[in-house]
Amino acid sequence: MLFEQVRAGGCLSYVIGCEHTHAGMLVDPHLDQMDRYLARATDMGIRIHYVVETHTHADHFSAARELASQLGARVVMHRVAAAPFADVRVDDGESIALGRLRIRTLHTPGHTEDSMCLLLEDRVLTGDTLLIGGTGRTDLPTGDPDQLYDSLFNKLLKLDGAIGVWPAHDYKDRVSSTIADELKTNARLHKTDRAEFVALMRGLDIAMPSHLSEALRTNRSGAKTVAQLIAEASRGISFMSMDEVARRLGDVLLLDVRERSEFAAGHLPGARHIPRGQLELRVDKELPDPTIRIVTYCQYGKISTLAAATLRSMGFGRAVALDGGFDAWVKAGLPTET
Ligand SMILES: [Fe+2]
Repeated sequence: MLFEQVRAGGCLSYVIGCEHTHAGMLVDPHLDQMDRYLARATDMGIRIHYVVETHTHADHFSAARELASQLGARVVMHRVAAAPFADVRVDDGESIALGRLRIRTLHTPGHTEDSMCLLLEDRVLTGDTLLIGGTGRTDLPTGDPDQLYDSLFNKLLKLDGAIGVWPAHDYKDRVSSTIADELKTNARLHKTDRAEFVALMRGLDIAMPSHLSEALRTNRSGAKTVAQLIAEASRGISFMSMDEVARRLGDVLLLDVRERSEFAAGHLPGARHIPRGQLELRVDKELPDPTIRIVTYCQYGKISTLAAATLRSMGFGRAVALDGGFDAWVKAGLPTET
């Protein structure tokens, strides 16, 4: 078995392959680490056939759909997962064939209703069901401490003690553990009485993940994050640095796409104003020459990226975005007017 853990902060993903056939899979990939997984898979000499999600994540943006569509791979999730883009839905006790490897799924609801653990030869990927020295939380949507109790004590912890535990999170730079180690040292697992365990889980007071709504919106639907929209727009345009724009004042059409009040409070010298929200409806009247060289800008350089991409899609082939925003322009001591 080819096996690699990929850490991004406290989040752990996995690249796994069969050494005989070079068939590979990714487990719990993050949207902002996509290039890294692909580079690792290339180094390992494997081709990705499956992208497996141990559960619907509420704390990060999943790359499952994007990677699967780029690679022609299949997204594997538990039968009850909300995501409409899951290609292969699996249930407890079934196996995924990866070359000569067999990856057995254990349905372990509790952290979420669609949580599962993946059992390989000598190890189990525990997702957020069992962590090193902890367990997944049960206070997020579809979480249930009662179910987590059963998943742990009546299923996962019954595995052989020597089986390695490879979780989806670890915030203390630990790599892995074993079932036996967890039974011995994981304080949460010492609450073997159901009522006590449930009370412990209900009593945890953990802050909500910072992008909860956006993560659930995108991970449950397969739709795009805001950062993804901006990144995609940025790949279709070019940018102009603030110094370059400062040198070309008067030679290029500066288009401020912020709101009216922001424009009125101060803008780049000679800038025209069309708010991003009105761009499509007003360009034909206000910018009749689509061959003109336009530099869009906004407050922080994100909405202007979308605006420049919109303009290019409308035929303004020389539309570029300011690399930076009004905020950075002012901080750089460059000229403005009101
Ligand atoms: Fe999670």
